[in-house]
Amino acid sequence: MTTERKAILNIEGQAPVEFPIMSPTHGNDCIDIRTLGGKTGLFTYDSGFLSTASCNSKITYIDGDKGELLYRGYPIEQLAEHCNFLEVAYLLKNGELPNAQEKKTFENTIKQHTMVHDQLTRFYNGFRRDAHPMAITVGVVGALSAFYHDSLDISNPEQRSISFNRIVAKLPTIVAMAYKYNTGAPFMYPDNELGYTANFMQMMFGTPCEKYKPNPVLVNALDTIFTLHADHEQNASTSTVRLAGSSGANPFACISAGIACLWGPAHGGANEACLQMLEEIGDVSRVGEYIKRAKDKNDSFKLMGFGHRVYKNFDPRATLMRKVCDDVLKELGLENDRLFKLAKELEKIALEDPYFVEKKLYPNVDFYSGIVQKAIGIPTEMFTCIFALARTVGWMTQWEEMISDPEYKIGRPRQLYVGAARRDVVPLDKR
Ligand code: SDX
Repeated sequence: MTTERKAILNIEGQAPVEFPIMSPTHGNDCIDIRTLGGKTGLFTYDSGFLSTASCNSKITYIDGDKGELLYRGYPIEQLAEHCNFLEVAYLLKNGELPNAQEKKTFENTIKQHTMVHDQLTRFYNGFRRDAHPMAITVGVVGALSAFYHDSLDISNPEQRSISFNRIVAKLPTIVAMAYKYNTGAPFMYPDNELGYTANFMQMMFGTPCEKYKPNPVLVNALDTIFTLHADHEQNASTSTVRLAGSSGANPFACISAGIACLWGPAHGGANEACLQMLEEIGDVSRVGEYIKRAKDKNDSFKLMGFGHRVYKNFDPRATLMRKVCDDVLKELGLENDRLFKLAKELEKIALEDPYFVEKKLYPNVDFYSGIVQKAIGIPTEMFTCIFALARTVGWMTQWEEMISDPEYKIGRPRQLYVGAARRDVVPLDKR
């Protein structure tokens, strides 16, 4: 990965210092500054990691300027069209797409892990019925490590693979149980006659009273939503999972940490916040008022579902999500859905506004996903749980890549200390 090119740092009063430049398959070259502290006594300062590569990875690549997203080198548009979510999960986990036999074997393996220990259901009873399903999911996923002592040896690749399969298989069950607990309806057991996404919908919307008949258009739409959310480089929640995992914490605890981070409205919570924003705007006539607020430095309001740290062009997932939205609303006869029409008008007005054009603020994955999920029948507060369910595949893949790298170390950033200078304690009677 290193190139012949060097970065030469000239610091006043010190001899110039050279650092190797690393060249990636795609994307920005990186200056390898791992020896900076030892050679110069200086640290870099990059709060928010605007210019920092935290690791090297073979999993996902984003070209923010082109609006391109690749999983293991494959464009997201092609994966969304030609593959289902479990095929994409296999690709992310193994680095290659499965052939027909590998796909069948993987699907059957996942099916063997869809049930949860029956005592896990007691954790739900500890929550209020109106507990946010993300609070429930964070807690229950973290508790899984108390049930699976046979797959917590993270130095054992076989046990890591079992944990991957267990967590990917159980997240739909756990998330659907959170929904059922909120509604007071009985938990539904997995139905292994159904595929991964249809089974999730059965556990969400099915009842013990009758056989659930999945709508193939809605199943396909939700399956595509899972694919679009599967992984996304070193975003905040993935970085959280890596940092937690770097201490040797078990994978269930690491995923629970990732779910907690994803919950924030600046991150995975944006789809829930976006739908709430659209409900608050209510009508196209009020769009201008909210665009004005979004531009007002003195107003903390931001246009939910717009902007991105990396994409300075369309988030390709937003484009695909809008197509999924069209398909679902057509299937359900909701082409004139008020919120969808409002969202399309808001997108049009924002993309013509100089503020959004200059700052390169485009719709991101969260802008349309809430409308689709609401149309499918998923309540707003469940949106981020759906995101977490899908992103668990990416989190576990990133965790595995780090743990299996013999060079990995515990993540331990330094800081720029700007607090009080060293001083002595004055005894209480003299203070
Ligand atoms: C996800 O990282 C990932 O990959 C995340 C994700 C994934 O798959 O994991 O893609 C999922 O989290 C998508 C993002 C969902 N969040 C939202 O939709 C919330 C609204 N968006 C913003 O909060 C914001 O755009 C962020 C958090 C997404 C990105 O913030 P950055 O990179 O820190 O950029 P910034 O806040 O510094 O914004 C740059 C400028 C600022 O103005 P100035 O200070 O330069 O004058 O753009 C403005 C911001 O005020 N700005 C917005 C805006 N987003 C940025 N102004 C109005 N509305 C917005 N939505």
